[in-house]
Amino acid sequence: MCGIVGYVGGKQAQSVVIEGLRRLEYRGYDSAGIALVDSSTGTGQIACAKRAGKLANLEKALGEVALPESSTGIGHTRWATHGAPNDQNAHPHLGQQARVALVHNGIVENFASLRAELESAGHEMTSETDTEVAAHLLEREVQTGADLTTAMQRVCQRLEGAFTLVAVDGQDPDRVVAARRNSPLVVGIGEGENFIGSDVAAFIEHTREALELGQDQVVTITRDGVAVTGFDGTPTEGTRYHVDWDLSAAEKDGYDWFMRKEIFEQPSAVQDAMLGRHDASGRLQLDEVRISDGELREIDKIVIVACGTSNYAGLVAKYAIEHWTRIPCEVELSHEFRYRDPILTRNTLVVAMSQSGETADTLMAIRHAKEQGSRVLAICNTNGSTIPRESDAVIYTHAGPEIGVASTKGFLTQLIACYLLGLYLAQVRGTKFGDEIALVVAELEKMPEHVQTVLDDAEKIYALAAKHSKTKSVLFLGRHTGFPVALEGALKLKELAYIHAEGFAAGELKHGPIALIEEGLPVFCVVPPEGRDELRQKMISAIQEIRARGAYTIVLVEEGDDSIVPYADELIRLPRVPTLLQPVVAVVPLQLFACELATRMGHDVDQPRNLAKSVTVE
Ligand code: G6P
Repeated sequence: MCGIVGYVGGKQAQSVVIEGLRRLEYRGYDSAGIALVDSSTGTGQIACAKRAGKLANLEKALGEVALPESSTGIGHTRWATHGAPNDQNAHPHLGQQARVALVHNGIVENFASLRAELESAGHEMTSETDTEVAAHLLEREVQTGADLTTAMQRVCQRLEGAFTLVAVDGQDPDRVVAARRNSPLVVGIGEGENFIGSDVAAFIEHTREALELGQDQVVTITRDGVAVTGFDGTPTEGTRYHVDWDLSAAEKDGYDWFMRKEIFEQPSAVQDAMLGRHDASGRLQLDEVRISDGELREIDKIVIVACGTSNYAGLVAKYAIEHWTRIPCEVELSHEFRYRDPILTRNTLVVAMSQSGETADTLMAIRHAKEQGSRVLAICNTNGSTIPRESDAVIYTHAGPEIGVASTKGFLTQLIACYLLGLYLAQVRGTKFGDEIALVVAELEKMPEHVQTVLDDAEKIYALAAKHSKTKSVLFLGRHTGFPVALEGALKLKELAYIHAEGFAAGELKHGPIALIEEGLPVFCVVPPEGRDELRQKMISAIQEIRARGAYTIVLVEEGDDSIVPYADELIRLPRVPTLLQPVVAVVPLQLFACELATRMGHDVDQPRNLAKSVTVE
């Protein structure tokens, strides 16, 4: 939610900042802006340009009126919170004298009182944002003689809420200062140049050396140095790490959309998620789960907290974890969990599932859980992000960067991580024999190949999307692990195609949703594998019932199961896999369908309206 970039070095700051914004645009695209320190005139002024809409609008404006050359700059791509997405509210925001420019990700919760204070002292605000007050406060500090770093420390101590701030001072041309509380910020370490970004994609083209910052820290970058302090000015150090993916991972690589590329990367992402996590005999080794076996044996409840697609991965996990471990497992939306006084003890394991590792609702949920003494384990795709950093343990999903706003390979690798966690708990607690675990591990090992088989049939799904490109509504039905698949299929369509789409548990059909069925309504139906015949038969009855009422049935069923053929208007074949693992293959056609349908409708698949990839405000 909002992308921020900062640069100081020997290159043209404008091109480095714009390129960084392009790679962060998935975080928000309501407006974009840039501020450069004008080193040509020596006036101490900032040159700034900003435009509502996507980054392309800003680039067009920069093509018409060029900014001065500069080697120090900051930039922002916005997902609007306070104030409409127009030019005035776009970042950067300037201080009263336009000496300081500042960009912000997050929400300054006490901005109204700060604004009143500034206005009564004669400051004039030009926007409706919470950010502008921080710019004015910062400039007021530097005007009193403080350097930008000290000024930032002082201002941060006055702000409440979640924020990443990045600022430049026109009279201190070789310094960029940033600060973070509850919002993401990483430093890129180059040679003779340094970078600031919301995530490493902002600077991956220039360096793969990064510095992770802690909570309530201020970082100052110059060409040759990086210095970190607390908000109180105490010197401290960030944690250095090497980014294990390169620029090509942040490119579309010939695909029309990042999302389509990421769908097709799923076989290798699933493989990477399992790499090194079991030995040849199928025994799991999750060394990164730094919770002792003794403590894992004492767990008497698991609560998975997550939002959006990650929540649906959690719903799948519940079926597998309870079945393998016999530990009760609840799945809850982070924002509901946090504010309802959940029952948590030292023996509750809270699993925070988050692709980005920055979702504010999930972060607040784990903080609450930790306050109650519970253990927190993160399942996350983003190295060094806040949620794993604040958790007791982490299983990284190793999907590589996910840039399309709608999650795909993030979801599949979360499923794999959940299966591994469930099996690991079963191994530690002895609820499954080693050979039973090895059998499931062997099935998991076949998943990359199975996902590839589904992808090989993509053209068939695309043809289906073409056929339904005028549809106004689509339903999804599933039972057991097929139910979360139905929910995820519907979410993908809502996110990308902006049409009415709902997922239901098929058993619930007769309790209401069947009233929605009308002539020609497309309904995707996920049929459980033959191994679970009691479920499968009930699903087949549901398909007959909706078809009798006019539904156009699109049936996902495993290879070789022909019993459903007479009742299917369309058949999508799935590889034969165990029921608990079926979501890994069943969701893929639904991702392809949503991606293709949205493309045919002329929507921006990677940047759907009103959404942001990483929701860093509650
Ligand atoms: C946003 C994204 C969703 C994502 C959800 C949770 O709403 O648009 O695609 O599923 O956040 O994100 P997380 O990073 O915590 O998995």
